[in-house]
Amino acid sequence: MIKFTVTSTKGGVGKTTLTANLGGLLADLGLRVLLVDADVQPSLSKYFPLAALRPDAGLTEVIVRGEVTPACITPTLYRNLDIVVSDDPEGRLPHWLLNRIDRGVRLRMALQTPAVVDAYDCVLIDTPGAVGPLQDAAVLAADGLISPITPEILSAREFRDGTMELLERLAPGAALGAMPAPLKAVIYRQDRTVDARMIACGIREDLARWDGRVSVLDTAVPHAKAYKEAATSRMPVHRHEPRRDGVTPSAYTVMHLLAWELIPSLQGILVDGDRDIAGAA
Ligand SMILES: Nc1ncnc2c1ncn2[C@@H]1O[C@H](COP(=O)(O)OP(=O)(O)O)[C@@H](O)[C@H]1O
Ligand SMILES: [Mg+2]
Repeated sequence: MIKFTVTSTKGGVGKTTLTANLGGLLADLGLRVLLVDADVQPSLSKYFPLAALRPDAGLTEVIVRGEVTPACITPTLYRNLDIVVSDDPEGRLPHWLLNRIDRGVRLRMALQTPAVVDAYDCVLIDTPGAVGPLQDAAVLAADGLISPITPEILSAREFRDGTMELLERLAPGAALGAMPAPLKAVIYRQDRTVDARMIACGIREDLARWDGRVSVLDTAVPHAKAYKEAATSRMPVHRHEPRRDGVTPSAYTVMHLLAWELIPSLQGILVDGDRDIAGAA
């Protein structure tokens, strides 16, 4: 089982959209996927239609019990795709966590329960766009961190000053009991006026001092209306936009390339086997 946390200290960068669509694609590729909505604003919980209108339990029980019980897991209407919903509209969980000595590792330990380890191939955790104990716990729960960055100089700086500061604070010595996993930045919502490669180079240079613990993925996610439309239709974007004319690659292509970079053992495997992907090795 592999666990990814999608993190950024900035809101509105695409974390929830990326988590949902990556989860949707991996599930369609046959992996058993558990989404975890660790944002008190439950956007991911509302992304896909759920099998239960009112889930019995969710993130609160996971954090407070320190265990993922079957009641905490709600199936979505998509095969292989389940979710731990966010159920803390008053935002009590971060305060509760703050008073716990094991706050850093609580989610990590909870995800080690058999209800998760035996039942899923991949866990994807969405986080709030702000610094806080839930963000810390989600970052320390993962084997890999994914961070969307808009290819603009201001976002790159925000990434350096916010997200990198977060990692620095959580690095050994901060005494939360675990070490942050390597981080992969994704150039996200790239528009055609921006040379993402130049920005990616800049980010790479900026990150050199992290000696390989931070890297930038080759795949960039374009700015495209398909991502918004798919959210409106509550479906994974690779299904919503299976093909596309023009220079911008289809969401189907982009999401596959991204999944293959993140989980190299999936390289070359397609949701719908008879299709070609530009850039496939
Ligand atoms: N690739 C994309 N192209 C255009 N719009 C996008 C793309 N990805 C996400 N969006 C839109 O950007 C907004 C913020 O995305 P969201 O995933 O909610 O960010 P976050 O979770 O980081 O706050 C949403 O309205 C979403 O539909
Ligand atoms: Mg979000």
